Amino acid sequence: MRSYVVTGAASGIGKATKELLEQRGNRVVGVDLHDTDIEADLSTVEGRTGLADAVRAAAPDGIDAIVAVAGVAQFTALTARVNYFGAVATLENLRPLLAGSDAPRAVVVSSFSSLQDNDPELVGLLLAGDEAASVTRAEALVEQQLGHLIYASTKRAISEWVRTQSITPEWAGAGIPLNAVGPGVILTPMTAPLMQTQEGRDQLAQIVPMPLGGPAEPVVIARILAWLTGEENTHMAGQTVYVDGGADVAIRGAHVFGTTA
Ligand code: NAI
Repeated sequence: MRSYVVTGAASGIGKATKELLEQRGNRVVGVDLHDTDIEADLSTVEGRTGLADAVRAAAPDGIDAIVAVAGVAQFTALTARVNYFGAVATLENLRPLLAGSDAPRAVVVSSFSSLQDNDPELVGLLLAGDEAASVTRAEALVEQQLGHLIYASTKRAISEWVRTQSITPEWAGAGIPLNAVGPGVILTPMTAPLMQTQEGRDQLAQIVPMPLGGPAEPVVIARILAWLTGEENTHMAGQTVYVDGGADVAIRGAHVFGTTA
């Protein structure tokens, strides 16, 4: 039996992941604002720092995997606080608790949006770890009616953070595969308002075309999160695995590999 921490466990993808891992006989400590094992607000410094102590109390023998799912899709600075700083803090603050595991793993939920238009200035500030400046920049984007760029910026930044960190002594050097998942449209409370109307569904289908299967149930993402944090994943590092019904390919095509010259 493996021991997991899943953030965002009260709803959508996080909830489906907790349920799937438990069905498979694992022990899961859920983290969310409410309605799960540990209540923590990952948008705040206090919520993030209290997390490690709370998990240590809930899992005194340590944990085998971190599954960072919690996120929001608001056109506000809160999205920067939760999706980037909350996710990074979850991974960094809980990493020491993986030390006793013989198959430690970590994964974060990024998004297909990591490939969409973003604000390079905000992406840079996020990656620099400057929360105050990131919030200021996000607020400026909202004022300029560009608040929709905040979400994609947080997801681009977290996918880049994963690439950078995955091969460091702290992660690869400690034997911990660190990766991300990039879901397309998933049917959760986050997307429900848009999916309720034909206009919203058409709009989403245009932005995130999913020729393979269309919008997916959250268990689809839960399954890949379970594999990435399972014992079988020994050598994948730094990847964002797009589970998006083909949206990445439909938008970006075949020529994404660049050159090393
Ligand atoms: P959801 O809204 O159903 O669940 C998100 C959970 O995160 C909620 O339970 C919420 O309470 C929790 N959360 C939000 N702010 C928090 C905070 N400050 N502290 C602790 N917990 C907090 O949304 P869903 O769809 O399950 O999203 C999960 C992740 O998947 C997010 O990171 C989202 O950006 C990502 N994602 C979702 C897609 C979709 O189409 N639903 C597509 C791509 C990525």
